Amino acid sequence: MKILITGGEGQVGRDLQALLSQDFEVVALGKGLLDISKEEGIARALQEHRPGLMVNAAAFTKVDACETERDLAWKINAEGPGLLGWACRKRGLPLLHLSTDYVFDGAKSPLECYVENDPTGPLSFYGLTKLEGERQILGSGVESLILRTSWVYGIHGANFLKAVLKRALSGQALRVVNDQWGAPTWSHRIAVQIRRLIRSESGGIYHAAAEGATTWYEVAREFFDLMKVEARLSPCTTAEYPTPARRPANSRLANRRLINEGLSEMRDWKEDLAAFVTQYRDRLIEEARAS
Ligand SMILES: NC(=O)c1ccc[n+]([C@@H]2O[C@H](COP(=O)([O-])OP(=O)(O)OC[C@H]3O[C@@H](n4cnc5c(N)ncnc54)[C@H](OP(=O)(O)O)[C@@H]3O)[C@@H](O)[C@H]2O)c1
Repeated sequence: MKILITGGEGQVGRDLQALLSQDFEVVALGKGLLDISKEEGIARALQEHRPGLMVNAAAFTKVDACETERDLAWKINAEGPGLLGWACRKRGLPLLHLSTDYVFDGAKSPLECYVENDPTGPLSFYGLTKLEGERQILGSGVESLILRTSWVYGIHGANFLKAVLKRALSGQALRVVNDQWGAPTWSHRIAVQIRRLIRSESGGIYHAAAEGATTWYEVAREFFDLMKVEARLSPCTTAEYPTPARRPANSRLANRRLINEGLSEMRDWKEDLAAFVTQYRDRLIEEARAS
């Protein structure tokens, strides 16, 4: 089967391309080759490549920028998935789409997780656009699978780990919020999970985040320990670190459907972070020093 990946230059897009290419014929297109907000471009790409499955890893993921660049965020995260849904449906093609923990309001106690059918209630415009993207796909009637994940990091593209590493290596002190709960999820692990789901021919909404729960501060602390990097790191509250977009205090996702259906490939966040550092420590330091 041939698989067409959109957002092919993003964190998940790049890892997906690398992994799925081992078993399938894969075409991964970056924004320059396939803009998911353009209907004609989508039709052209489907006509040219004739895939048997489309995976949408494209999104406007800068959560704070979505607050000010609302039109663009809506086009990419809300309308784009809808256009993909209608185009795939027309050709009888299934669509696998990625969504986010930020569709939830985070009001649950940090001891609890969100399951797939919990009521949504995004706090940020990013979360709202991603939720509308889910709705538009479901509304198009395409055969679909929507995978909600959280706090993504990987070797390709920008992320929290790279940002804090750069600051630590330049000697800057870091204050990181210690009252937002969730789980950092490795983009490679998401790719492994997607490969499993493709083989299973499942559908509907699934949660796929790393197992376990932590805060951003604890993620940074664990990361620096693993990296053996000295960092001047201290915890702070969300109130002490205001951002343009509101973020949920608890966006823990339970991988309930994956587990119940015997499909989970997800691992504890510490296990995957350790594997990531073992594989990429030198490259991360080199990149952080050069950037
Ligand atoms: N990153 C996270 O922490 C996180 C958390 C939960 C869920 N997710 C979801 O997981 C998925 C993958 O995220 P990621 O971390 O891999 O994001 P990413 O690294 O930002 O990758 C997204 C890619 O989509 C591209 N893109 C933007 N607008 C596009 C358009 N109109 N047409 C085609 N491509 C476009 C981006 O290009 P440019 O960068 O050049 O704009 C980027 O290469 C997304 O659906 C995201 O919402 C991410």
